[in-house]
Amino acid sequence: MCGIVGATAKRPVSEILLAGLHSLEYRGYDSAGVALLHNDELFVSKHQGKVAILEAALQKQPSPSHIGIAHTRWATHGVPSAENAHPHVSNNRVAIVHNGIIENHDQLRKGLQAQGFEFVSQTDSEVIVHLLSVELHKGSDLDSALGAVVEQLDGAYAIAAIDIAHPDRIAAARHGSPLVLGIGFGEYFVASDPLALRQVTNRFIYLEEGDRVSITPDHYQIWDKTAASVTRPVVELKDKLDQASKGDFDHFMLKEIYEQPRVLAETTSFAGLPTVDESIFGANASEIFDRVDAIQIVACGTSYHAGMVAKYWFESHLGMPCNVEVASEFRYRLRAKRPNTLLLTISQSGETADSLAALRDAAPDEFLASLVIANVDNSALVRESDLVFLTQAGPEIGVASTKAFTTQLVGVLILLLAFGRRKGMDSGFQAQLLQALRTLPDDVEAVLVQRARIEAVSERFIQKHHALFLGRGVYYPIALEGSLKLKEISYIHAEAYPAGELKHGPLALVDEEMPVIAVAPNDELLEKLRSNLEEVRSRGGELYVFAPQEANFESSDRVHVINMPHCDAITSPITYTVALQLLSYYVAIQKGTDVDKPRNLAKSVTVE
Ligand code: AGP
Repeated sequence: MCGIVGATAKRPVSEILLAGLHSLEYRGYDSAGVALLHNDELFVSKHQGKVAILEAALQKQPSPSHIGIAHTRWATHGVPSAENAHPHVSNNRVAIVHNGIIENHDQLRKGLQAQGFEFVSQTDSEVIVHLLSVELHKGSDLDSALGAVVEQLDGAYAIAAIDIAHPDRIAAARHGSPLVLGIGFGEYFVASDPLALRQVTNRFIYLEEGDRVSITPDHYQIWDKTAASVTRPVVELKDKLDQASKGDFDHFMLKEIYEQPRVLAETTSFAGLPTVDESIFGANASEIFDRVDAIQIVACGTSYHAGMVAKYWFESHLGMPCNVEVASEFRYRLRAKRPNTLLLTISQSGETADSLAALRDAAPDEFLASLVIANVDNSALVRESDLVFLTQAGPEIGVASTKAFTTQLVGVLILLLAFGRRKGMDSGFQAQLLQALRTLPDDVEAVLVQRARIEAVSERFIQKHHALFLGRGVYYPIALEGSLKLKEISYIHAEAYPAGELKHGPLALVDEEMPVIAVAPNDELLEKLRSNLEEVRSRGGELYVFAPQEANFESSDRVHVINMPHCDAITSPITYTVALQLLSYYVAIQKGTDVDKPRNLAKSVTVE
């Protein structure tokens, strides 16, 4: 998604802005630009493609400017192009960058055109800069002009603006899209993600919905949505900067796959087992948990798959009713009230627009309370939920989620233990679960040992355009997650089905060209799955079976067995996931795609 960085300082800022844009690259973008103010002149450079192209252009014309705003754009309105890239400029005096979507842009554009403004882009964002021009022309200062502009906007935005009449000031505002204020010494910054500013500060203010801010090198002021001047808490981030580097790995995704044994252990120990320390969820967590009878999960993408696994676990191990729904559907339908139901959102970024909207849309009396399982502290979902479980995955840079998913599943298992205490979980099962969590990091290590075997079979996918993933029971969502990973980073069209559904339709797709990937643990559904795989084999399909030795699958010409370690049934959805992550990674390497930044995708989906 789009990224914003702005800086006002007593030193040149173009390097700071570029470094910020580089840190935001992982979020996905198609163009980049910068606007700098110097000696009453506005200098703008914007280009389609990588930040490196912008950087090369700026190197040819180095700027001593002490103030600027910069942007990476992920196209929503208008094709990726230099014209549509931000910053947008009006009257050669004011420039803005914008994240989000302005829903009433059409109507605003018509009004501005009637006043004589000429539009040079196809974006919704350009209306903002011309509206700002109108307000400045009336004699308003930059801060009040932005205040008057946001009153006219419908939709979601984070905006930063500069104006030649205010040579050291950046005005910014947020509503529906994240924005932070970075606090330096004799310099202030704004950005859509603190990661963009970690090179210059670790002190941040997370602006709230409807906030506006004004920054100069020596001063900042924040106004809330009622235009009252407010103070907001300063948060000091303590995470290490080197977590955002690839280290010795070729890609962030591979690094993040390999980090899983460590971060799974850290997520488990965060809960203070063997008895779950419920204060980690929030001060009144125990009191709320005592009253929960059912769970409604809402999430998107990979996090939704974690929710599907959670449903199997809550219902089969606790008999607790659990529904799961994608956030973009949940938020737009009429729903029945669920007394004593916990609304559980799951999100790596904590900023996903649909999940956030689902949380906000829930009526006060619709659910008992809300809980989020998130990976990013201080994110919007974390700030707006009653209770929080923070996965300890650390920054996830690869667009394809890996360690965030598996730590989310550990978060769900911790929750299962917390409710287990209340719902009479069998003590034998509880001991088994605690032991499974203890050995999980070693089990994942044992999967990573299969790297070479998985890399070898990945070569067989080079010419493939389609793939089918099969699983049964709790492994059906794991098959879904495997297929999502493969399509995201290799661009192979992949589908996942519960294996029992095969003969109800998808079997028609199976021929010699169709690789079929089966998640085949040695469980009570193994024999059913074996029959499903025979159906594939007898139609000439090529099988890739992830199974432990005890399942007795044999490799042959058209059957490739990948041996999985023997591990506990409760945590093995996690270990099978890791194997499928490796498969997708190596197939993408064979295909030569941009593994960490797959086309058209963004890491943090902050627009609808
Ligand atoms: C995962 O590989 C995807 N990039 C995507 O499906 C992601 O899980 C989804 O957009 C939800 O994001 P969140 O977990 O940050 O809410």
